[in-house]
Amino acid sequence: KRVAVLISGRGSNMQSLIAAAMDPAYPAEIALVLSNRPDAGGLARAAEFGIATAVVDHRDYKGDREGFERAVDAILKAERIEIVALAGFMRLLTPFLVNAWRDRMINIHPALLPSFKGLATHERALEAGVKLHGATVHFVSAEMDDGPIIAQGAVPVLDDDTPETLGARVLGVEHQIYPRALALVASGKAKLRDRRVVSGTDSF
Ligand code: GRF
Repeated sequence: KRVAVLISGRGSNMQSLIAAAMDPAYPAEIALVLSNRPDAGGLARAAEFGIATAVVDHRDYKGDREGFERAVDAILKAERIEIVALAGFMRLLTPFLVNAWRDRMINIHPALLPSFKGLATHERALEAGVKLHGATVHFVSAEMDDGPIIAQGAVPVLDDDTPETLGARVLGVEHQIYPRALALVASGKAKLRDRRVVSGTDSF
């Protein structure tokens, strides 16, 4: 399956997907990395791996979110993309792109959903005093950080954690679960039943 990874920043999750897809047995190919920021660090990394890159600068579409998304969608279509993986893509999506890629767009969120949607998840996890925190890969639906859950990974919260130390621990599991979740989707093993994901055997 031809996959586009959408990023806004350093792209460490993007890199974990690229690394996994280097295995010939992996069921997906990272065919495109697209950023809404021309200065995203991940773009250069992707280019080093010989992957096609594209930029759609959201600042060229002030007040026109759908126009921005139509430009993104046109590139995805031109590149014959079949699955979209959001990886630190910091734009709220309108129903246009969500509907265009329904059941074919996935996202990684640095919390155990449905807890801690939105930003500053590690700060809020520490504030709440939870003892387990983690990351979630899910299909994208109209509401932010919502949609059927494909995979989750948990880490302990330690007494002396700061948002930084906790975030680094969570990032480690992000890099493990995102390649596995994408493989489940690309191979067709992650199936939707009543808007929940059933995945059979996870052999990746
Ligand atoms: C990750 O924590 C991801 O879960 C969140 O944004 C961060 C992106 O990091 N949505 P990176 O660009 O993949 O390194």
